[in-house]
Amino acid sequence: MKKDQKYLIFFTYMIASFTNVDAADLSYTIPEEMRPGSIVGNIPKDLGLGVGEFFKRKARIDIGENDHHFCDLDLKTGNFIIKKRIDREELCGEKMSCVLRFELVLESPLELHRISLLIQDINDNSPHFPEDLVKLEIHESAVRGTRYRVNEAHDSDVGQNTVREYSLEKNEHFVLSVQDDTDGSKKIELILDKELDREKEQDLNFALFAIDGGNLRKSGSVTIKVTVLDANDNAPVFNQTFYKASLPENAQIDTVVAAVKATDADEGVNGEVIYEFSRITEKAKKVFSLNGKTGEIRLIGTLDFETDPKYEMRIYAKDGYGLSSDSKLMIDVTDVNDNAPII
Ligand SMILES: *[C@@H]1O[C@H](CO)[C@@H](O)[C@H](O)[C@H]1NC(C)=O
Repeated sequence: MKKDQKYLIFFTYMIASFTNVDAADLSYTIPEEMRPGSIVGNIPKDLGLGVGEFFKRKARIDIGENDHHFCDLDLKTGNFIIKKRIDREELCGEKMSCVLRFELVLESPLELHRISLLIQDINDNSPHFPEDLVKLEIHESAVRGTRYRVNEAHDSDVGQNTVREYSLEKNEHFVLSVQDDTDGSKKIELILDKELDREKEQDLNFALFAIDGGNLRKSGSVTIKVTVLDANDNAPVFNQTFYKASLPENAQIDTVVAAVKATDADEGVNGEVIYEFSRITEKAKKVFSLNGKTGEIRLIGTLDFETDPKYEMRIYAKDGYGLSSDSKLMIDVTDVNDNAPII
């Protein structure tokens, strides 16, 4: 520090003590969002001065470092009034203490009075979640107790008026867990309480609410949309326990003998059904073909009632991941008078 700077500071200090800088600081506490024109306090009264003297000494407010003209002096009454709406959140954000400072100047003798205005938070903001919709894709094989994290809600208010609790819309499958995280945030999790079953429910929708404190509690919500993903847990099911067909021994090659059908409740590749012969004699294999996709059984060889009046085979249906079930197909070959009578 230079020498002349030191003197300057000393000199300023001397003036300050003569002019009674801290003689009578005034401090007021008001809630944010007061209507313009509202009275914060009466300055001459609070300073113990007559209104006449107050104005004779050319009282005025210096707005100082805050460039927003939030408050002013009413020149008739000496009331300190709100000029502009004060939004605590805009002014101070997450700071717990929000103070506006003003300086009151009086002349002859020169007097400065500091006025501080403590702005209290009112519950004017609702909690809100970072997104409107949380999409969860959960495999139906997920076990009870599995946890799914959801982002916490925020509220621009502070203290009591910020988010206090969470609640989950009643639903059959999930319960809520809210824990304090190490960094001061909340850990919000949905816990699977009852296992999912895609064949019963493919989508679940329910709301998660965040509720703040304060007098008139406000809440915000987010929709949780759970899509239940298929775990291949269903084997194909044949529409009949067995199939019967009959055809004349002189039936044409390529005749459709029968068609089997199995369906699978699973989705996608888990639900695609492929048919195959499971138990079939070598002889029958030469006579019948099975279309793996359609389940159609066609004649590909010649029949003879006299040697083989009946065929029996098993067909199985399997899905993309190998779950299978089977069914029986019985084919009767009917006699056609193809042998000349033996006399
Ligand atoms: C089973 O499926 C086959 C092939 O599509 C069809 O011909 C038959 O009528 C079905 N049976 C029943 C009981 O629906």
